[in-house]
Amino acid sequence: QAVLTRLPSPSLFGSDIDPVLLAAAYQTRSRFRFALTDPKKQRFEVPHENVGPFSGPAASNLKYKVDVQQNPFGIKVTRASNGKVLFDTTIGPLLYAEQFLQLSIKLPSSNVYGVGEHVHKQYQHDVRWKTWPIFSRDAAPSANMDNLYGVQTFFLCLEDNTGASLGVFLMNSNAMEFALQPAPAVTYRTTGGILDFYVFLGDTPEQVVQEYVKFIGLPALPSYWTLGFHLSRYDYGSLDAVKAVVERNRAIGLPYDVQYTDIDYMEGRKDFTYDKVNFKDLPSFQTYMHDYGQKYIIILDPAISTEALADGSSYQAYERGQSKKVWVNESDGVTPLVGEVWPGRTVFPDFTNPDCTSWWTEECKIFYNQVPYDGIWIDMNEVANFVQGSSNGCEQNELNYPPFTPHVVDRLLYSKTLCMDAVQKWGRHYDVHNLFGYSMTLSTQRAIETLFPGKRSFLLSRSTFAGSGKYAGHWLGDNAATWDHIKWAIPGMLEFGLFGIPYVGADICGFYENVTEELCRRWMQVGAFYPFSRNHNTKKCTPQDPAAFGADSVLVKSSKHYLNIRYTLLPYLYTLFYKAHTQGDTVARPVLHEFYSDEATWSVDKQFLWGPGLLITPVLDPGVDIVQAYVPDAVWYDYDSGAKIWLRKQWTQMYLPADKMGLHLRGGYVFPFQQPATTTVASRKNPMGLIIALDDNNEAAGELFWDDGESTGEPLSAS
Ligand code: GLC
Repeated sequence: QAVLTRLPSPSLFGSDIDPVLLAAAYQTRSRFRFALTDPKKQRFEVPHENVGPFSGPAASNLKYKVDVQQNPFGIKVTRASNGKVLFDTTIGPLLYAEQFLQLSIKLPSSNVYGVGEHVHKQYQHDVRWKTWPIFSRDAAPSANMDNLYGVQTFFLCLEDNTGASLGVFLMNSNAMEFALQPAPAVTYRTTGGILDFYVFLGDTPEQVVQEYVKFIGLPALPSYWTLGFHLSRYDYGSLDAVKAVVERNRAIGLPYDVQYTDIDYMEGRKDFTYDKVNFKDLPSFQTYMHDYGQKYIIILDPAISTEALADGSSYQAYERGQSKKVWVNESDGVTPLVGEVWPGRTVFPDFTNPDCTSWWTEECKIFYNQVPYDGIWIDMNEVANFVQGSSNGCEQNELNYPPFTPHVVDRLLYSKTLCMDAVQKWGRHYDVHNLFGYSMTLSTQRAIETLFPGKRSFLLSRSTFAGSGKYAGHWLGDNAATWDHIKWAIPGMLEFGLFGIPYVGADICGFYENVTEELCRRWMQVGAFYPFSRNHNTKKCTPQDPAAFGADSVLVKSSKHYLNIRYTLLPYLYTLFYKAHTQGDTVARPVLHEFYSDEATWSVDKQFLWGPGLLITPVLDPGVDIVQAYVPDAVWYDYDSGAKIWLRKQWTQMYLPADKMGLHLRGGYVFPFQQPATTTVASRKNPMGLIIALDDNNEAAGELFWDDGESTGEPLSAS
């Protein structure tokens, strides 16, 4: 510990804190933590599920060395093996005020990856003065540098071509900015809480991810069926329309496990209700799906309507929540904050309140007893609000109008969400806004455990925080059917791998806008290799489920071909998820994680790997059948033909006509497989086998994890 006193200098944003307490700990041999707090006053600290206060003995045999510089204060973390300075805050001053905290870190290289949620366009960061706002927001991905749905404050830095890497995580849930500079350096600039930094050292990028993910929570092992293909759209309009889509995709023999219904299944878009006219047979829909070996997933939004149902009867879910006082309150701490979302006038459950979790769990159960379902998709949990702050606006105070506002969309913190002075159990919305999706995930996980004892089910969340992956997967939000978006999805997906949320994908064929056959065909090809593979579409746009393009279309043939390969390789994919779940490995893996000694891979983001062994080279441009592709330094075999590729460690022109994408197996690996079928229920009964791809020495090795595909492995509780 050390006490830091403020050097005389003009105040930037007022309310400077002096002194500041530095506490640091050698937590493990590869993890160093230090926190800067106010010794005179308790400031907000993230009540994280997995991460506790300082405790335990100091680690020994450290991979790092720490030096503290005095006057001015700075902290340096050095790699013990080679003396390289990895993390150096002496590049800039520490600023510590009530609502403005800033620290800069000089890095050993500009190979920086991560931090979110944004569209970064490229996986390797551009360090030329780019400032990214971090604040959860219902904003559609676009070319603007907007803050999007989730809050991820972790980045990885590859030091050099030995693979040595470091990771940096700031445990802080306030609105903030992350600025990259060519030094190379980064600056975290946050509006509250404390500065609580973790530095992770690894010998490889994968090791850094493992260290980080073990720390914030290892990702859930998905149920086997959730690795199948999913179909969804907003506004099918009726259950008959849903069934027509299901039928036509069954009829073409598409590998396809999961069907969704979006908010249009609800009555007046109210959670825990269903439209008794257009979706009148919804109670038997799960059986209809199960009869074919398929599953059914519902959407739930956080905002709860305050209005009665159309027939004048009371809206029970709201009434029960109201009597249990489970809503987010206005600044007085007692009046529920009212806003507006899909159903009109709404209140917002405070998932940080245990009573709210009980209420939510109960509502999920009551609804399940009417309309059985297999998993839950939670949306709008940034939390989204269609009016600014509340229906009554927001008061003029330092929480709603802080002295410094990061460069967030609209430059207004309560834009499209709640007033910052709203009150939740964990604290002011100002401090806990970024934890809304995380807390909703924790509550919904509780519901899932109650509904499906001993089973894993499915949970998908739009808003995430560090540790969300322990329970939930993520999709990249409301993208559009454009060639830009098909490209941006790869960096997005790889980043969520770093954040410990490996079950991730983008809406295949794009959410907004009508998709062309060509784009949708190319998207179905690459999407067959998203860990979370779902085609989802918005209202009014032309149907984009594969069968909509005609049973004999090239799109259908190609979609089936690549989904069949996905289903064939599910034992391999499932094993990768098991490794993610037990050690924190990435699943959709950046090429550089396997081939870091080759600089050319450091910026590859139009290709990716499944684990160490399957190289995926999609076509991401219109009118193209030749793709510039990188062949990393290994023996590779073309998946379809088995032919050996006679080049390596170089760029090549890959010929990929309309119905083809690049898929290559790496020599040295054994891939467990199973004969595919149209559902995983059926494929799991098929014969299994091994594809053995030999390396230069005619050797190969591999692994298989296998179980029933759905149990948690935890003993069932007595109830
Ligand atoms: C949001 C979701 C989208 C969903 C829509 C309607 O925009 O991101 O996936 O279809 O709401 O519920």
